[in-house]
Amino acid sequence: TDKVNCFPENFLWGGSTSANQIEGAWHEDGKGLSVADVQLFRNPKTLDELNNVKGNTDTDDDMIKNAIVSDSTTDYPKRHGIDFYHHYKEDIKLFAEMGFNTYRFSIAWSRIFPNGDESAPNEKGLEFYNKVIKECAKYNIQPIITLSHYEIPLTLCTRYNGWYNRKTIDFFINYVKAVITHFGKDVKYWLTFNEIDSILRHPFMTGGLIESRFKKEEFQSVLYQAMHNQLVASALATKFIHENYPDDKVGCMTTKLTYYPFTSKPADVLATQQKMRQVYAFADIQVFGRYPAYLLSKFKNEQINVDMNQDDLKILSQNTVDFVSFSYYQTSCVAADESNLELTNGNTTIGVKNPYLKSSEWGWQIDPTGLRISLVDLYDRYRKPLMIVENGLGARDVIDSNHQVHDDYRITYLKAHISAMYDAITKDGVDLMGYTPWGPIDLLSNSTIQMSKRYGFIYVDLNDDGTGSYNRYKKDSFYWYHDVIKSNAASI
Ligand code: BG6
Repeated sequence: TDKVNCFPENFLWGGSTSANQIEGAWHEDGKGLSVADVQLFRNPKTLDELNNVKGNTDTDDDMIKNAIVSDSTTDYPKRHGIDFYHHYKEDIKLFAEMGFNTYRFSIAWSRIFPNGDESAPNEKGLEFYNKVIKECAKYNIQPIITLSHYEIPLTLCTRYNGWYNRKTIDFFINYVKAVITHFGKDVKYWLTFNEIDSILRHPFMTGGLIESRFKKEEFQSVLYQAMHNQLVASALATKFIHENYPDDKVGCMTTKLTYYPFTSKPADVLATQQKMRQVYAFADIQVFGRYPAYLLSKFKNEQINVDMNQDDLKILSQNTVDFVSFSYYQTSCVAADESNLELTNGNTTIGVKNPYLKSSEWGWQIDPTGLRISLVDLYDRYRKPLMIVENGLGARDVIDSNHQVHDDYRITYLKAHISAMYDAITKDGVDLMGYTPWGPIDLLSNSTIQMSKRYGFIYVDLNDDGTGSYNRYKKDSFYWYHDVIKSNAASI
């Protein structure tokens, strides 16, 4: 009972998805191709194979050409998603049944501007999101919208070199203007770019960069230029939202990778600190409005040339975010010399294995205490309200003949993480606004494009090869999460 009302009264409880992992309908109603529609199915069978899955970093022009002429949804499963495009009413109803008061989803840029460079938006695209937002309103579910979640229109990559080109800033702002003009008054919370820092690990997916087009020695400069352009675009989007809807709140969204020194050797501690400076660099710019010393000295020491003018710096400094949102799944370790250490997979990363932690089947190390550490770190650093917009356990679920899924492992994982949130709020004084665990309904995995890596409270009858009825079933965790929300977490 000491946990009664432990969470703030207006705490946002919900779930989180992205357009490209759920919608399907990849060429319906005028939608253009995005980077997600050319992502090939990967099916790693072992952890070793998994460690070699590099997302789409290795995409080249030939792979893209092959994808463009292919009609296959089996090879490119994000094209079918879980068909949310046609199931949204049913799915939002199920979210409402769990008691969601918020739902984080993204808008597919390529539904609104199919090639990215048109001057007028595709009305049919806007119509779809209008229907989704109206459906949420029916149940008093507050949307949190990500403007860009690994979904840049493909034409912007092939024709303009993605975020390397400054023109992409203008294209993005055209898109943002169309979205905000239509939905700014109905939606209060906006996130600009999902895991903006992931451009360093996934240049194609996050930055729209086709690496093989650039000389090896110039690629670091290309990458950081793209990062800079994206940050300027994020600040301009923030500006537009604030100017037009002063009550709307804009957040940055960062991958909260928390690293521990593998040993207490000062060299390991230093290596960890260096890594953490890299982790924080992006949100630092979005919160503080200026480049951290870490990046400026890196640019200088490694001869990385980033073209940034005075106007850019002014835009960054004048348009900072209102809150800090992040994804949190796992932690890993860092050592000065990692050559003989066992590595394991994590969210868009590979890191040194921690002997004290257990891992998911995909190698992600489960660490609820790490969530409390992360919350405290972020809050002490930024002093802004925080929101956990992704968290969860990817697991292989088994559905029985009565359509039941006994996912107690998921409940155990989430319970421990919610308890860590409780400690951070009550003992550490962290201002946490909300919690939207990843994939409240099963969806396609981002790293491996598998359907069999499931996060949901709701089971979707769909297999890796695209077969299945697409029917939805409630897992045990569905009822459990319902009670958590209803009791404001007192039930755990
Ligand atoms: C985050 C992404 O990196 O992690 C999501 O924002 C992604 O898009 C999630 O789905 C979980 O990763 P995965 O690879 O298990 O789908």
